[in-house]
Amino acid sequence: MNIVKVSSSKPYSVYIDRGIIDRLGEYIRSNGYVKYLLLTDENVDRIYGERIEKIFKNRQIKIVKYVVPAGEESKSMSILEELLTFMAENHFNRSDGLIAFGGGVVGDLGGFAAGIYQRGIDYIQIPTTLLAAVDSSVGGKTAVNLSSGKNLVGVFKQPKFVLCDPDLLETLPMDDFRSGVAEIIKYAVLFDGELFKRLFSKLDSQSPDLSEVISKCVSHKAEIVKQDEFEAGKRQLLNLGHTVGHAIEKASGYKMRHGYAVAIGIAIITRAGLAQGIIEEGVADEVLELLNVNKLPTNTLYPIEELLEYCKGDKKGHLESINVIMFRDIEKPVIIKMNYDELYIMLKQGVMS
Ligand code: NAD
Ligand code: GLY
Repeated sequence: MNIVKVSSSKPYSVYIDRGIIDRLGEYIRSNGYVKYLLLTDENVDRIYGERIEKIFKNRQIKIVKYVVPAGEESKSMSILEELLTFMAENHFNRSDGLIAFGGGVVGDLGGFAAGIYQRGIDYIQIPTTLLAAVDSSVGGKTAVNLSSGKNLVGVFKQPKFVLCDPDLLETLPMDDFRSGVAEIIKYAVLFDGELFKRLFSKLDSQSPDLSEVISKCVSHKAEIVKQDEFEAGKRQLLNLGHTVGHAIEKASGYKMRHGYAVAIGIAIITRAGLAQGIIEEGVADEVLELLNVNKLPTNTLYPIEELLEYCKGDKKGHLESINVIMFRDIEKPVIIKMNYDELYIMLKQGVMS
């Protein structure tokens, strides 16, 4: 088993092991909550619902299940309110816990609900997508979207622990697996040349080193969270490809997968960095090639002006400037503060017409 310790204001562990889900009862039992709200989505419930409920039943742990529709639409204020109301109607209080069993959507929604319900109850992350395993289940960022933009309302709320079973990824559709690979590429470009090379070979749910790859990403994230839990500085690096990515997601009406939008965002930054002489041609080619090898998209047809408007609404943006994450080389990321005219130029350089 791989165990990664996250030294945040409330330290916790991320347990990564194939088959660990069947030992969930042991991990849960030791926490001593009275009952748990098991939050999941329709797809995950259809595939794993019965199995999970049996684990709790065998251990006589009381759970109340709440299932939300699958997809980004569930990261909304209305679903959040329905969930909080359900918790109140079922007499949840601070001696109870919440389990977010699903992908990034369930994790972000559940974490936020746990962060604000009765001023905060504990929660546990059990990621069931690659994206959630390598990124969203760790680090305590929670949020829902507003019609004005992505992740605009949320809190930092670290989980009690994270239990990651890579075997659960066997049922994940290929497109969703690839979406997670985009976030792994983000970690590789930012911090890990060895992982970068590894990703030129096929990675799938059967890969013998999948737990290792997940652990590497989680370890990189844990290191960043240790240094800058509340994103005052270095944590911004984790937004590589995200400013433009979030704009693309919004332009698509949140129909495009998060990781796909991030992949396009990384490609745009890479081409712009090359045009501005920040990134050398050989490095830029390799990054674009890595995205291609992993069958990720690298361009968008949404108008640049529309993307610029959405970037201005990003929560990382200020009135006149925004911090954009760029890199000079693999493992050499930089934060560049630019005004919106400069961002417009960058988009023009990065988007292929
Ligand atoms: P998701 O939660 O929508 O899951 C993708 C799809 O996979 C859904 O249809 C889901 O039902 C299905 N699914 C989940 N697990 C499955 C399994 N084991 N087998 C079969 N199907 C399964 O999307 P995601 O890609 O996991 O997460 C994207 C979200 O994460 C976005 O909202 C993004 O903003 C957020 N995010 C948050 C952070 C953070 O730090 N909090 C970081 C990155 C991304
Ligand atoms: N996914 C970016 C972060 O957690 O900071």
